[in-house]
Amino acid sequence: MSDAVFAFDAYGTLFDVHAAATRQSQSIGPSWERLSQVWRQKHLEYTWIYAQTRRPASFWTLAERSLDFAIVSVGGIPAGVRENLLGAYRRMETFPEVQRVLSELKSRGAKLAILSNGDPDMLTELVAASSLTATFDAVISVAEAGIFKPNEMVYRLVTDRFAVQPSDVTFMSSNRWDIAGGKAFGFRTVWVNRAGAPDEYPDMPADRIVKDLTALA
Ligand code: LAC
Repeated sequence: MSDAVFAFDAYGTLFDVHAAATRQSQSIGPSWERLSQVWRQKHLEYTWIYAQTRRPASFWTLAERSLDFAIVSVGGIPAGVRENLLGAYRRMETFPEVQRVLSELKSRGAKLAILSNGDPDMLTELVAASSLTATFDAVISVAEAGIFKPNEMVYRLVTDRFAVQPSDVTFMSSNRWDIAGGKAFGFRTVWVNRAGAPDEYPDMPADRIVKDLTALA
């Protein structure tokens, strides 16, 4: 286990991206769930477009723009909620099993990393807000590669940082497209299918499919 590197996607895998809208569902009204889904989906779409067009962009700017799109698409939300949602995005809570599973892996000698589209300052705040700063051996932002996932330069940041081969890295993501990217690069992949989504990308399969991270411990 001592050479093993476990790299985790952040948003949706370790941290609950929909928690903020869930908590503010009363203020948002009946469209809260759609707002949260459209926000997330547009945010991801924007990263793919900026990666393909090789334009620099910060994940935070795209979070704001995608939220603004989502707000208009559901017909608006009450004053103040936009700021609350953006504030909550920077202090997003972890899924319930995360702390226990990470401690268990660390006690077995695994090297733990985050590999995320998040900007460096967003990731630093996020990890600190959950008291996980000392848990991770590396918190890697794609900003170091200057492009978003699933470009292979992004996955290479992990092998470069730990001086290992792709097959030495187990990569966990709740995003099936991110698992496809990690698999294409040569990682061992674990799709954390929290939402029970149908499988896709059959030529870039997950090595393992779990419903949450508990199975790793
Ligand atoms: C991330 C997004 C893709 O953390 O979930 O990279």
